[in-house]
Amino acid sequence: MRDVEQVFRDAVRDTPLRRVRCRYRGGTVPFGLKMEAHGSSGSVKDRTAVGLLRQLHQERPLVPGTVVVESTSGNLGLAMARILPEIGCEFLAVVDLKTPGPTMRALRDMGARLVVVDEPDGRGGYLLSRLETVRRLCAENPGYRWTNQYENPAGPRMHSRTTGPEIVAQAGPELSAVYAPVSTGGTFAGISAHLRDARPDVARVAVDVTGSAALYGDPGQRRIPGIGASRPSLFITPGDYDRAVLVEDAEAMAVCRILHEDLGLAVGGSSGCTVRALLADHEGPDGGLSVCLAADGGEKYRETIYSDEWTVAQGIHEDVLRAVKQLRYEGLSFTWARSA
Ligand SMILES: Cc1ncc(COP(=O)(O)O)c(C=O)c1O
Repeated sequence: MRDVEQVFRDAVRDTPLRRVRCRYRGGTVPFGLKMEAHGSSGSVKDRTAVGLLRQLHQERPLVPGTVVVESTSGNLGLAMARILPEIGCEFLAVVDLKTPGPTMRALRDMGARLVVVDEPDGRGGYLLSRLETVRRLCAENPGYRWTNQYENPAGPRMHSRTTGPEIVAQAGPELSAVYAPVSTGGTFAGISAHLRDARPDVARVAVDVTGSAALYGDPGQRRIPGIGASRPSLFITPGDYDRAVLVEDAEAMAVCRILHEDLGLAVGGSSGCTVRALLADHEGPDGGLSVCLAADGGEKYRETIYSDEWTVAQGIHEDVLRAVKQLRYEGLSFTWARSA
């Protein structure tokens, strides 16, 4: 069996910051996309998974045969499912009906066991039902270990040690703002803590979707996986951000489609949210470089946010088309700029 700490170290790698030139409303907005799809399991959650598992291992060694259970909308699960077999442990993922099909298939293919929660929590999602299921499973099986991503400070700590410093180093002195999506809030809280200490001049923008209560919104229907939550983040207080933005899901999907058309790059829906939030703030150049966290890639969303059939079924097809048309009318276009 491989050394546990070595497995953890190997699972986290630096991801690229790609520079993009964006034209919008007569101005040019240069920004960086922090491409977390290049992480070892394809999302920002590799970092979170290692933070959480390392904490569990330090509390009590994760000996081979241990079952680790976690409620996940997908990406944390993919990271856990990749890492845990390498140290001889099993992964039990509590997912829900909104988890993308390709993610569920990938989890199963990697040997994870799945419990699919189909009971909505009455707050626009499944989170509270998923957490109830995790608690029940742990009570019935006292040997199970729960990483508890919604409450465990080891998650944000990992981002304050890796994601935040990488962004600061890659963007350099011109860095003026960071836009990061919020679900548990761990990614944003960690980046924000690092910026507060290392670059207090940089604006920290927390990005959520309408229908999410993760920041200040009211819970309701949400369609984009990965971002948002049915309840407020336990990691973020108003002092942790300079601005908090709620993005309409159809608008975020429109931005995803335009990025894809212009750059050939498919990003996940939460990345569309961060870029949409950036556009809302910038009607002209501000002289600095903003960074948008692209928490994952778009491949696993081909059947959802990139699919017309799906947007029709969701009743938002016209909204997405209208948003694309409006943004194009406002002059939105993207081209690659030199890379960091
Ligand atoms: C695609 C995507 N975006 C954003 C986030 C938000 O991360 P956090 O839970 O750290 O707030 C996640 C978390 O799963 C994600 O998978």
